[in-house]
Amino acid sequence: MQQTSGMPTHIAIIMDGNGRWAKQRGLARSMGHREGAKTVEIITRHCLEIGIGHLTLFAFSTENWSRPKAEVEAIMNLLRDYLTQCEQQQNREVRTRFIGDRAPLAPDLVRRMDALEAATANNTRMNLNIAINYGGRDEILHAARRLACLVAEGKLDPRDIDAALFSQGLYTAGQPDPDMIIRPSGEQRLSNFLLWQCAYAELIYMDKLWPDFTPADLDTAIALYAGRDRRYGGISG
Ligand code: IPE
Ligand code: IPE
Ligand code: MG
Repeated sequence: MQQTSGMPTHIAIIMDGNGRWAKQRGLARSMGHREGAKTVEIITRHCLEIGIGHLTLFAFSTENWSRPKAEVEAIMNLLRDYLTQCEQQQNREVRTRFIGDRAPLAPDLVRRMDALEAATANNTRMNLNIAINYGGRDEILHAARRLACLVAEGKLDPRDIDAALFSQGLYTAGQPDPDMIIRPSGEQRLSNFLLWQCAYAELIYMDKLWPDFTPADLDTAIALYAGRDRRYGGISG
């Protein structure tokens, strides 16, 4: 199977570089996160304008708990601010979902995340996934455990486990895999992001730090993507 890339259906972004942005300016890291939150707004709006159907943003990883408590708290408070903004806007276009393990999050956050998901569940113009306490390995383990329980209960024959069934246990169940993963900040790694889903994603690494990332940078990334030859193990046509 060979496919010309064209416009991506699903863009995923590892929003990296907030800390370095702040450091370059002699500011606290939390200021970088605050600036990065503004970029979230700008890039989400741009994706909506150019007709991207699915956008997934990596905001906080399962490994990010190892940061200083004050930094983790600052990020959680930015999530609270984001939720307040969404609650006030009552957007009718974007369906927002949170992917990741909510169990360790503060109860007020979980309640408001659930409420935003419910309030936007019928919006169809764009699907926005925000990855909070997300880890690709954690997600795969979660899906494997679910299937193991069904087998143990006698409800599933292990021979019936295939990729489609497995995918149903992922946080992104029912959504298309990302076509491209963009990582700003110059780092060239996945850092435990969408490990199952990015099997055939095009990886685009850019040097800009996330707070400096602009709609023009997103357009550049899409142009790079459009030039890629996606072969899925086949050969060029
Ligand atoms: C990304 O920016 C935001 C999170 C991981 C929460 P960083 O905070 O990782 O920024 P750098 O990599 O230290 O510059
Ligand atoms: C990945 O960035 C996580 C998010 C952007 C939320 P990190 O900054 O945590 O990744 P590493 O530590 O550089 O691999
Ligand atoms: Mg980082």
